[in-house]
Amino acid sequence: MSSNLDHIYPVFDKMLPREAKESLLSQRGIVVWMYGLSGSGKSTLANLLERRLHEQGNFVKVLDGDNVRSGLNQNLGFSDEDRLENIRRVAEVAKLFAESGVVTIASFITPNNELRSLARSILGDDDLLEVYVSASYQTCAERDPKGLYAKVDAGEVKNFTGKDSGFEEPDRPDLIIDTELHNEDECLAQLLEAVSKRIEAPASP
Ligand code: ADX
Repeated sequence: MSSNLDHIYPVFDKMLPREAKESLLSQRGIVVWMYGLSGSGKSTLANLLERRLHEQGNFVKVLDGDNVRSGLNQNLGFSDEDRLENIRRVAEVAKLFAESGVVTIASFITPNNELRSLARSILGDDDLLEVYVSASYQTCAERDPKGLYAKVDAGEVKNFTGKDSGFEEPDRPDLIIDTELHNEDECLAQLLEAVSKRIEAPASP
């Protein structure tokens, strides 16, 4: 059976190895994948984490749902199929960053375990820290930072996560950050503790 890969000849072995880049950056590249409802605090925490790590001398990139959907993924909507393609592409992009030694923070709703497993299968256990940013639908609707929940109530948004499109509680996140119970500083401290251990520069040979 023919496939799209039939006449493709990857040359990964000839490229400068990942370790050389990590050594240059004095850090290990990983992907911190933050998921949760819209308004749960993912983007806020992703941006705070990026700034703090940057101040500490790390090289960091945030990939955020709304931003990526305005560029690379602007042809995708919110059907199950499009969300899967959104997550697949983002995981592949995040992998390119992590393999370049970059501390990569992905902030996407990633509404079910199939999508979370897909990201894990692309990234691998060593390169992924899975963070569930938890807040109830009601709390997110009260915060409504983008005015989206009001639009949902007015019937203007279809396939909205938690309303007429599902959000599944996670199977096995590495970390749960509860933004109802903890303030920004506390959430950031929890994130920093988990991330710092994973991005320490590998010992030189
Ligand atoms: S995901 O489900 O495919 O992971 P993603 O994180 O990229 O979603 O995009 C979510 C963002 O798109 C939300 O934060 C919100 O601003 C916007 N959005 C617009 N329409 C919807 C919708 N129907 N459901 C969820 N988010 C939506």
